[in-house]
Amino acid sequence: MAFSPTAPTTPDSYSWFAEALLAWYPRHRRDLPWRHTRDPYLIWLSEVILQQTRVKQGLPYYLTFSSHYPTVQDLAAALPDEVLRHWQGLGYYSRARNMHHTAQQVVTEFGGRFPDSYAGLLLLKGVGQYTAAAVASFAYDEQVAVLDGNVFRVLARVFGLHHDIAAPASRKQFQQLADQLIPADHPAEFNQAIMEFGALQCTPAKPDCMFCPMQSRCFAFQHGLVAELPVKSKAKAARTRYFHYLVLRHADRVYLRKRGPKDIWEGLYDFALHETDSAELTGVELLAAVERLGGRMVTGRAEEPAVTARHILSHQKVEARFHEVWLAGPLSAAATSAGLAAYRSEEVEQLPKSILITNYISKKQI
Ligand code: ADE
Repeated sequence: MAFSPTAPTTPDSYSWFAEALLAWYPRHRRDLPWRHTRDPYLIWLSEVILQQTRVKQGLPYYLTFSSHYPTVQDLAAALPDEVLRHWQGLGYYSRARNMHHTAQQVVTEFGGRFPDSYAGLLLLKGVGQYTAAAVASFAYDEQVAVLDGNVFRVLARVFGLHHDIAAPASRKQFQQLADQLIPADHPAEFNQAIMEFGALQCTPAKPDCMFCPMQSRCFAFQHGLVAELPVKSKAKAARTRYFHYLVLRHADRVYLRKRGPKDIWEGLYDFALHETDSAELTGVELLAAVERLGGRMVTGRAEEPAVTARHILSHQKVEARFHEVWLAGPLSAAATSAGLAAYRSEEVEQLPKSILITNYISKKQI
């Protein structure tokens, strides 16, 4: 950035910020179910979901989870596949698995009660600084500031912090500032308010500066730097992977398998996968891949053209092609040992699957 004025680092009083924020909040807040509870379990559940998605998309998932699993004991006792099935569509499925483990940890190691402090909450698997701060403040009124993308943006703009928010080392500066801003008498409300302010007023693009109560004190607004702040370095380009799915069908069944560990979509079901470094798969390659699984095609060629789909994850792009193959008979033992099993369509419906697979199945009415 060519022009980078020095931001004030030690203003004598920060109290104006909490005052402005807490005056803004009651007039703009959305009425959301997790704001009506002090139950640490339900608050934690909402935060795990909201780390994954926006409020609008997350709300139905919160309602599903809180009605199927109203207590941490219910979630802990659930079947892993059922938890994944309810999570379906949110992406980043390891979060659902971690959430399930955490519930089990609360039951087995903490007698079914969530730890009642920030430090205690950090002992839970998968609970990081953000979630611990959110639960400790919302459930127990502990004075500990949350930092998420919304909070980074608000603080960077209002106080003129130029630290790269993509760099882990910047967290310290933001945390120090946020800890000075959070008032002892309203920590829960302050944390909800600053996130809501980032979500509704101080938005990433087109923030509503004209009607902003911080306007006269906002460093970015006063210096014409609203579009420049926060500073965020670009992530590495995502790598592209080419997935050729063999949708092996026989009679009223289709073959799927459960995905293993150490790759995307662990524990979700998909079709036999042939991954290559090319978007194309020749007829010969397809035939060989089917034969390796002990299958024999009826027609000798797959449906043309193959159905294609693209799926973008945080660090990789998946270019998928679905090759529908009608088999002359059931697959041999080689396929079963590769984990493939034949399912009827009602059974396929019940299995946890990625959105990529779900979309294909609904389009093809499998
Ligand atoms: N995003 C993360 N946590 C949130 C909350 N408690 N309310 C609204 N949006 C959020």
